[in-house]
Amino acid sequence: MTEPALDVHLTPEDAAVALRAEARTGLTATPKWVSPKWFYDAAGSELFERITRLPEYYPTRAEREILGARAGEIAATTGARALVELGSGSSEKTRLLLDALRAHGTLAEFVPLDVSPSALTEAARQILADYPGLRVHGVVGDFTEHLGLLPGAPPRLVAFLGGTVGNLIPEERDKFLTSVRDVLEPGEWLLLGTDLVKDPEVLVRAYDDALGVTAEFNRNVLRVLNRELGADFDPLAFRHVALWNAEEEWVEMRLRAVRPVRAHVAALGLDVGFAAGEELRTEVSAKFRREGVERELTAAGFAPHRWWTDERGRFALSLARVEG
Ligand code: AVJ
Repeated sequence: MTEPALDVHLTPEDAAVALRAEARTGLTATPKWVSPKWFYDAAGSELFERITRLPEYYPTRAEREILGARAGEIAATTGARALVELGSGSSEKTRLLLDALRAHGTLAEFVPLDVSPSALTEAARQILADYPGLRVHGVVGDFTEHLGLLPGAPPRLVAFLGGTVGNLIPEERDKFLTSVRDVLEPGEWLLLGTDLVKDPEVLVRAYDDALGVTAEFNRNVLRVLNRELGADFDPLAFRHVALWNAEEEWVEMRLRAVRPVRAHVAALGLDVGFAAGEELRTEVSAKFRREGVERELTAAGFAPHRWWTDERGRFALSLARVEG
């Protein structure tokens, strides 16, 4: 079997440097934080896949429903020759788009981009095996930094699914959407998945499931810090917290110290102390309304073209175009 082409814009060394810089900033800040991008080592990517199958975690199923209903229309509207998927993870839902674009007859290339080399390589191999003749060109990279180097012939369709754009705070989102806009040519497309504002109980349950898989996923970030930075956090000294921030309209995940915790972070020469009850913010997952999404797309220079939700109105896909 041929191997998928792979561009590495983020080497393990780059990732280590970025993690050290971010961890130093976040762990010495008040309140303390770490970025959700560090969740996705091999174990974290696996845990996330389990989350997507939990009864409480509706976004994956809701987005799949929309893709199932609209992929044909997306293919016909965009006529994309290349599908670029940002934060591709397992690329499982992407198959609905690949199938439709193939059936439409335009698709030549699939370009998945992800920070996780393990998830990316695995997904790229499987897609290559299942779509004979399709070029698969993986990019190991950070979607907030490595968009300038995207392969693929126009017209490209950039898909950013799952609601991952919600991991960015508003000013990061603006910067990100503008940078996507900047690498695209007139006539190219963005397909953006956004989870929608809804009953806070439903939202919080999606991030605090009964089996505790999300809690494990959250705590896994401490294992990443332990391994990558020679730290000695005791993951069991932290309780998983998920809450709805009504002001900001985002779900926050935190790790709350259940007792006073001291940890040494060898790679930073840093001692970190948590008072009992002190929290480490590990993720924000913003929830959206149609007006807000369209405003942000427009501000970044896209023309919003279509807006679709699942039957129950839980999740939305927006198709936006770069005007000529
Ligand atoms: C992969 C970023 C879309 O925010 O819902 C799942 C990650 N965090 N459960 C999300 C996540 C907790 C997920 N995204």
